[in-house]
Amino acid sequence: MILVTGATGYIGSHTVVELISHGYEVLALDNLSTSRAAAIDAIESITGIRVPLEIIDLKDQASLLNIVGKYPIEGVIHIAGHLAVGESVEQPLKYYENNVNGLINLLRFMELSKCENLIFSSSCTVYGEVQQMPVKESLPTKRPNSPYGNTKKISEEIIEDLSAAGALKAICLRYFNPIGAHASGLLGENPDNVYNLLPLLLKAASGHLQELKVFGNDYPTKDGSCVRDYVHVLDIAAAHVKAFQRLNSISTKNTVEKFNLGSGKGYTVIEMIQAFEKINQIKIKYHVEARRDGDVAEIYSDSKLAFDKLNWTTKYTLDDMLSSAWNREKTFRKNELH
Ligand code: WQD
Repeated sequence: MILVTGATGYIGSHTVVELISHGYEVLALDNLSTSRAAAIDAIESITGIRVPLEIIDLKDQASLLNIVGKYPIEGVIHIAGHLAVGESVEQPLKYYENNVNGLINLLRFMELSKCENLIFSSSCTVYGEVQQMPVKESLPTKRPNSPYGNTKKISEEIIEDLSAAGALKAICLRYFNPIGAHASGLLGENPDNVYNLLPLLLKAASGHLQELKVFGNDYPTKDGSCVRDYVHVLDIAAAHVKAFQRLNSISTKNTVEKFNLGSGKGYTVIEMIQAFEKINQIKIKYHVEARRDGDVAEIYSDSKLAFDKLNWTTKYTLDDMLSSAWNREKTFRKNELH
């Protein structure tokens, strides 16, 4: 059985569907702070499997340790965490307490459960401001630009220390910018996410946001807005299965591997708006504002290592990402009305 933390969230729920489609038994764990238990129903609609859900906050070590021995956990995929760069600048303690303390409690749970396989949801933000593109895993991490990125860098280092002590083996998946949704439209971004570009762009498209803000057009990029490497969430979900299969094939515990998960292509914010308008035939109103604290000007990936070692590559295009995201938004809004 694989424990997936953050399982009712955006990336978590897509990963659970992918795990089930590969025959894995899943235990979902989430505190529902930024997602809804209805995701379990959606997963059941898609897979026919009703996944057990433990509603636990990883900051609450006692509750977490209460379920030691309750399930035969062979591995953990740790996705739960706060993820908004901008918010982390405004509320650093919320991020350190949730993302770092939560990980420490989970690692204690794994130790008591005698579970030594960990897949960790890391992030490209661990690279900080990078000059040379595309970014490779061999690039040393440095002080990230945001507390969010720093929680991911610190978490990787904690995992490395535990692995060096022989406690576990791990794979850290450094997501770039996951967007898009399952074709059913039943899974998707947390609608209350008011930080990331795509959820806000979708709100502007569906009339739930008057105008989209573009945070800065004075960066040294082709049109002045920030460049990011967007990757379909289905590709991200598939990578977790590949990573778990690889981890199972590794015998030595003092192993921590890191893989970039990106498409290798960078798009500016303005390009994303234009691409969304084109593929979905819809107009997005936006206006340019000041830069957002914590942002880097440009980052996109070299994911060749994941291709070589995980036999993983992106299958979906930018149009797939943007059309599936819009399909999800329309499905969500329609269901919201009932
Ligand atoms: C993207 C660009 C904003 C909102 C994300 C996740 C993080 C990590 C990396 C996985 C930036 C601009 C945004 C808006 C805008 N992924 N923007 N107007 O900051 O790259 O981080 O990817 O771990 O978890 O948060 O993503 O979508 O917030 O921003 O102009 O209303 O869009 O300035 O340039 P970010 P984002």
